[in-house]
Amino acid sequence: MLTAEQKLDALTNLGAQLNRLSDLDILMERILSEARRFVNADAGSIYIRHDRDLRFTYTQNATLQERLPSGEKLVYSTFAIPVDENSIAGWVATAGRPLNLKDVYELDNSVPYSFSRQFDETTGYHTQSMLTLPLATSRADVVGVLQIINARDDRGRIISFSREDEKMMAHFASTATVALEKARMTRDIILRMIRMAEMRDPKETGAHVNRVASYSVELYEKWAQKQGFSREEIDAKRDILRMAAMLHDVGKVGISDTILKKPGRFTEEEFNVMKEHTLMGGRLFKDKRSEFDDAAAEVAVNHHEKWNGLGYPGYVDMETGRPLPGYETPDGRPKGKAGKEIPLYGRIVAIADVYDALCSQRVYKPAWEEKDALDILEKDAGSHFDPELIELFFSRLDVIRSIRERYPDED
Ligand code: C2E
Ligand code: SIN
Ligand code: SIN
Ligand code: SIN
Ligand code: FE
Ligand code: FE
Repeated sequence: MLTAEQKLDALTNLGAQLNRLSDLDILMERILSEARRFVNADAGSIYIRHDRDLRFTYTQNATLQERLPSGEKLVYSTFAIPVDENSIAGWVATAGRPLNLKDVYELDNSVPYSFSRQFDETTGYHTQSMLTLPLATSRADVVGVLQIINARDDRGRIISFSREDEKMMAHFASTATVALEKARMTRDIILRMIRMAEMRDPKETGAHVNRVASYSVELYEKWAQKQGFSREEIDAKRDILRMAAMLHDVGKVGISDTILKKPGRFTEEEFNVMKEHTLMGGRLFKDKRSEFDDAAAEVAVNHHEKWNGLGYPGYVDMETGRPLPGYETPDGRPKGKAGKEIPLYGRIVAIADVYDALCSQRVYKPAWEEKDALDILEKDAGSHFDPELIELFFSRLDVIRSIRERYPDED
């Protein structure tokens, strides 16, 4: 088994690797909008395969989008379609072949699949022509499905997809497949390293890390929109913040299992040891070779600071953990960072982390009802949390919940 020091060493190389990555969500959204633009299609989705299911993961719909206030995003509850011959997307994933349908409401009686009307019925949209392609790797594994809906002519009338469109879309499908495989590999590397280091019970790790990262990105996006940041600026930061937030607790690899996995409440002494995970995480990225390292250090060090200055680690020397000169309180402890002295990413991840920790089961506590978790966030706005960010969190609760559904805890 690896020592804590070896675990930390094993992780120091991560930063450089992570830098080369792009964020999967952004890539997929881009592929989808480009694909739609090429064939002048009103709507489209990318489904991602998880074992025997396809999950409706990325979706765009110009008509439905127009009905929303600007800046708002479409929200769908993620639903799963089995990989079998009963649905259109399921058939395409099973057969590994594309399907070009003129009108999904006029399907031939001889075909095994049928169009699921659930989507149209819940949104009031009318689906007609549909081109569906498998996202198949060179080894013929189907990792997802690309579905483009309602091609339009230059007067906006719905038409069928042509043979040319099919060829064009095959290119987008292969780009999406490559992006998906790369992103999967990277996310898998991060998750595997965290697991390998036995940072925590594997049951918790993957989903918690993904949820905290997604909530954080959502909060950041809302905050940045309010500041008037451009789409490009926001997208560039999203990439970095997602990876940084995934690693918020990476310093826990340096904490012994006896403390980390204690099946009950900590003593004060145990808690003091646990608090070191912030600085240990920060040291992994101390070389600060890139914007990613900066962000990862910012998150690791600051995600347990509190708005009222009573969080940890406060103003300390990164190496020794001792108070910085002039930041010692009368009891010898370091002064905490307060308000906007706490860097933005720290303030964001604090909210995402606590919301998720409260809603999840831990070795030391059961999962709480969401309502109780929300009560804490509301009550502690202005003491623990940045009140402005809490307001944004509540304004995006629908998205937050759909993220929670997307990354359920494995049992
Ligand atoms: P975590 O489990 O991911 O929890 C993250 C943060 O969520 C906590 O930071 C705390 O702010 C909040 N939180 C979690 N559970 C509760 C709760 O039951 N009530 C309230 N009001 N807030 C809660 P914190 O306290 O700094 O803890 C950092 C990490 O230390 C935790 O991460 C967990 O890994 C560990 N930890 C903290 N207390 C205990 C404990 O009593 N027993 C054990 N085994 N681990 C603990
Ligand atoms: C299907 O592929 O059958 C379902 C597509 C959808 O509802 O959008
Ligand atoms: C993945 O499994 O890597 C993709 C998950 C997602 O973004 O929904
Ligand atoms: C930042 O943009 O990182 C700082 C802004 C803030 O702390 O509110
Ligand atoms: Fe933490
Ligand atoms: Fe956490």
